[in-house]
Amino acid sequence: MEITKPGGQSGVCGHTWELANYERNVNRAIHKYNAYRKAASVIAKYPTKIKSGAEAKKLDGVGAKIAEKIDEFLATGKLRKLEKIRQDDTSSSINFLTRVTGIGPAAARKLVEEGIKTLDDLRNNEHKLNHHQRIGLKYFEDFEMRIPRDEMLKMQEIVLEKLNTLDSEYIGTVCGSFRRGAESSGDMDILLTHPDFTSDSTKQPHLLHQVVQSLEDCKFITDTLVKGDTKFMGVCQLPSEGGKQFPFRRLDIRLIPKDQYYCGVLYFTGSDIFNKNMRTHALEKGFTLNEYTLRPLGITGVAGEPLPIDSEKDIFDYIQYKYREPKERSE
Ligand code: TTP
Ligand code: MG
Repeated sequence: MEITKPGGQSGVCGHTWELANYERNVNRAIHKYNAYRKAASVIAKYPTKIKSGAEAKKLDGVGAKIAEKIDEFLATGKLRKLEKIRQDDTSSSINFLTRVTGIGPAAARKLVEEGIKTLDDLRNNEHKLNHHQRIGLKYFEDFEMRIPRDEMLKMQEIVLEKLNTLDSEYIGTVCGSFRRGAESSGDMDILLTHPDFTSDSTKQPHLLHQVVQSLEDCKFITDTLVKGDTKFMGVCQLPSEGGKQFPFRRLDIRLIPKDQYYCGVLYFTGSDIFNKNMRTHALEKGFTLNEYTLRPLGITGVAGEPLPIDSEKDIFDYIQYKYREPKERSE
């Protein structure tokens, strides 16, 4: 889960991202956030440099307002709206605090209203933070760093090897941007299932907890943010190599009933823009798709029973969507 896209993006796309984050973190205007993000994503994918607002407006997801901003940026090299936001102390402080994992837009605003605006302020007011936020603060610098793919591969190997040792019937998939082939990832998203656990069976929290326990025992998992029956959120670290310490990384593990596993894998592979487009397509074909199930919609619009699914491909087939490899799912 990531709120601020990493730096290094400049120009039209970077500015659009910055506006997106502002809408989400400061205004809590999720629709505007999504609109900017969608625009940033089609612009990023565009093969050539955008030369005018009119050119951008031809792209799906770029409307008149964003086109206007693009013209302003191309003409002046900046955006008045963004300049104002950047200069506004409250906005920029809220934006900054949401970079700490566990501090959402609402908590950030509350802290800023109490005069807590910087990392040092947070460190001096740890008593105001919950456990999750304290861990976010403790590893702030590490969590800001992307995880190179070769480290993701090493992490994957440790986890999959553990699963196999514990019980060879476990199925585990590293999802998120890693599965889409990204050269670096913000965190590790692991989905876990086991044939003993279905949506008709009783809860099987031990299936998750024994995995977490063994990853703690081998010192791979170092901290816990949240541990429930089906979801673990925490921190991990690769063992040091030749005296070299690796950064601490965010790790999520979700235990999913076998019959819902592939809807989960599809959802958590993303990207979230791809997910949205696929859900829209599903609706057009008369289905409702979410991270758990795919269900047909009756004439009255009421969702029927979940369809049986044994692979991601099954989901694409039901809704007559051309299959796309994870690498091709950026949108
Ligand atoms: P993330 O880990 O937030 O995204 P990511 O793995 O694609 O990117 P990063 O490298 O920065 O970690 O979430 C994992 C997937 O979950 C994401 O690709 C799609 C899905 N998802 C949504 O569809 N909607 C959401 O709001 C979120 C947070 C995730
Ligand atoms: Mg991720």
